[in-house]
Amino acid sequence: MTETRRPPFRETGAQPDDHAEQPEHDEELRYQFPGDKRHDVGTSISSSAMVRRLPELIRRSLALAWHADRRSTLLLLLAQAASGVFGALALYATTGTLAALLRPGPVTGHLRAAAPSLTLLTVSAALRAALGIAVTTLSGRVGPRVNRDADLALIEAGCSAELAAYDQPAYNESWEAADRGAATTPDLLASAQDVIAATVSLAAAAGVLTTLNPWLLPFLLLGSVPAGLAAVRTARIHYLATITTNDERAALRIYRWHLIDKQRADQVRSDQVLPFMMRKYRAAEARIVAVTDRAGTEAARVSLLAALATGAGAALMWGALLYLVSTGRIGLAAAGSATFALRTAASSVQGMVGNGARLYRMGLYLDDYFDFLDSAGGHRITRGEIVPDPPGTIEVTALTYAYPGEQQEAALRGIDLTLHQGEVVALIGQNGSGKSTLLKLLSGLYLPQDGGGQITWDGVPIAQLEADALFRQVARVPQEFARWPLPAHENVHLGRHAGGDPVRAVEAAAALTGFDEVVTRLRSGWRTLLAQGWQGGAELSGGGWQRAAVARAFYRTARQPGLLILDEPTSDLDPRAEHRILHALRTLAPGRITLLVTHNLANAKLADRVVVMDRGRIVQTGTWDELAGTEGLFRELLDLQTDRTVPAPRTAP
Ligand SMILES: Nc1ncnc2c1ncn2[C@@H]1O[C@H](COP(=O)(O)OP(=O)(O)O)[C@@H](O)[C@H]1O
Ligand SMILES: [Mg+2]
Repeated sequence: MTETRRPPFRETGAQPDDHAEQPEHDEELRYQFPGDKRHDVGTSISSSAMVRRLPELIRRSLALAWHADRRSTLLLLLAQAASGVFGALALYATTGTLAALLRPGPVTGHLRAAAPSLTLLTVSAALRAALGIAVTTLSGRVGPRVNRDADLALIEAGCSAELAAYDQPAYNESWEAADRGAATTPDLLASAQDVIAATVSLAAAAGVLTTLNPWLLPFLLLGSVPAGLAAVRTARIHYLATITTNDERAALRIYRWHLIDKQRADQVRSDQVLPFMMRKYRAAEARIVAVTDRAGTEAARVSLLAALATGAGAALMWGALLYLVSTGRIGLAAAGSATFALRTAASSVQGMVGNGARLYRMGLYLDDYFDFLDSAGGHRITRGEIVPDPPGTIEVTALTYAYPGEQQEAALRGIDLTLHQGEVVALIGQNGSGKSTLLKLLSGLYLPQDGGGQITWDGVPIAQLEADALFRQVARVPQEFARWPLPAHENVHLGRHAGGDPVRAVEAAAALTGFDEVVTRLRSGWRTLLAQGWQGGAELSGGGWQRAAVARAFYRTARQPGLLILDEPTSDLDPRAEHRILHALRTLAPGRITLLVTHNLANAKLADRVVVMDRGRIVQTGTWDELAGTEGLFRELLDLQTDRTVPAPRTAP
């Protein structure tokens, strides 16, 4: 058999029913975003809207630049103004030179007469070139700084939104739109500059034309209006095409990320998912290409019409010039100068219109960016001002919580629960019974919804607590914890220092969880980077990471968080590590409220009280012994956990 080179993931030996087509009624990735809003924006694109918006956009671009780097922005503006002045001078000098050369009389005299103009022309041109280099250099300094600022502002805004925002598909879309806006900021500045430069140069050309013959001025408009209209029209076509394919492009990003991300790389291979996902990828891409192609054709048609109109305008202009010369209304020298000035003006107008339209189009994205910054996508955390102490009592009354969307049943339904300082409460229940949701509400990550009951900390409704101060009181191990690409000790302290010796505090927290043993085995101990695939980076086992996550929460308790929340904190741990953590948990319990979610019902024995949840409700509460001795869900789950009788093998029919 001959070896043929194959791409690593070619579809080999596919069975006929492999990678079956997606049935038509399957749901696809779609934003539930206010698409109409963007569509309205798209259809509102017009020349008059553009003319109205440009000054503001230029001002905003300059404000961004000013904020990012004052000195360079100032120099940039000066260099541009100077460049404009020298451009104007060069134009005047050109007309002067032409006038001297084309006047009647002997040629030798002409050269002498042209000499001053020629000198001015040369010097202006040289200075202008030098200033051009300065502008490029300064833009190169300002652009990246503008981008950096925009990026940081965006991240900050994103992180100051309520957690519940992430459950709103519209939020995700507005975040992406803002991200696109932030990415356009450096180009925005460049376009704003080009518009300014073209405007200065146009003013100079118009000045020259006016001195030569004011009748020539209207021909400037004739040459530029069609191009301007076309530029705005194509901006509109492209914007609408972009928003029409928003869902597809988002889907592509997500497919792509799932395929190349390290976290799923093993499953991409062993589940042989590539050909199937590629099909989805290509299908989404094909829809984008179809829309873009259509937009391209339409834009080409518009541009063609504009080019014809511009050509006609130019013909008219030449005709007029000929007419003016042949009737003696304008001298030959002046006509030559006028030709030159008209050409300069035409290219300035083109620069103005083209860059103006570009600026306008980017301005649409910029709006998304500023909208997002203003209100963190409409979800900025705004809560009360009360700074809480460690809570003595947390009281939950008639709490009902429904995630947005079309699910049948609320995640929490009529929860009543009182928690006291010093108490350890175990939360038990089947998957999806609402345990994690309840923990997120108790820790203030979600707020109770209107009419959905309430949660108070020592009598104060949780929404009235100052958000930062509230989170300072919370130490939690979430069900899905972060694996920060940071050194081991930073993975525990996360930049917060407990006062005193931070190294000792980190080590003390780690010793309670067994994370210290994991760290001893690392190449550089606490300094080891926990990011495999990066230089020197190490990867921990699932249990190793979980110990780190618990150590992180225990470390926070050193700053006395009044609330310790552990959502299945030992699900990946071996019995010894699990025992150690549960033991530590009891020693940490005095002085705070501790909540533990666990599926291992034996673990719940260490709790003072066990709360059993089922489909969003609390169905049982009591001590472990009480619940184990009563008929009910807890007892049923307990029996299932201990029943390991082997079922009889199934016989073939
Ligand atoms: N972010 C979310 N958006 C929408 N529904 C959610 C979200 N998180 C959880 N749910 C739903 O809420 C219910 C309770 O989930 P959860 O609190 O995670 O349960 P548990 O932790 O007990 O397994 C489930 O039906 C789940 O599908
Ligand atoms: Mg959960």
